[in-house]
Amino acid sequence: MQHHLEESKVHIERLNQLINSIDGQPYQGKLGLPLPKYPQTMIEKMNNSMTKQEWELKKSEEDLISESAESVCYLMLIQKAQMAGGVFQNAIEPLSLNMKDEENMAEWIKTNTPLMLDKLWPQIEEAIASSPLESSPASSSQSLSQSR
Ligand SMILES: [Fe+2]
Repeated sequence: MQHHLEESKVHIERLNQLINSIDGQPYQGKLGLPLPKYPQTMIEKMNNSMTKQEWELKKSEEDLISESAESVCYLMLIQKAQMAGGVFQNAIEPLSLNMKDEENMAEWIKTNTPLMLDKLWPQIEEAIASSPLESSPASSSQSLSQSR
């Protein structure tokens, strides 16, 4: 996370320089990135049933989506800069450096997901086994139908 934070500062600095170099005004706010939006009833179910470890996995999933979305945005910008030519050619290098970092971060998450699952899965199973939610309607009806 510390590494990602440092990297993001470098990205912002590169983008600020780039925007300033073409007499633009860098936007200081935060852009939202696309993440899945769940219906209210689903969110409530998730809040009531998901373990801390499952949320950790969900967060990692969202991180992967964000990193991938960032790299797509850079890819499109790079292609537009190539097309526009002229002064926009100067944008290609800094945008490519940023894109590479985003791709590497997405790769890192993908590569480490099996390790994360290995670590969290037994904890999730343990948490579910020892939770009163085990007798939730879904699982109890399932076990009822299995016992019949
Ligand atoms: Fe990123």
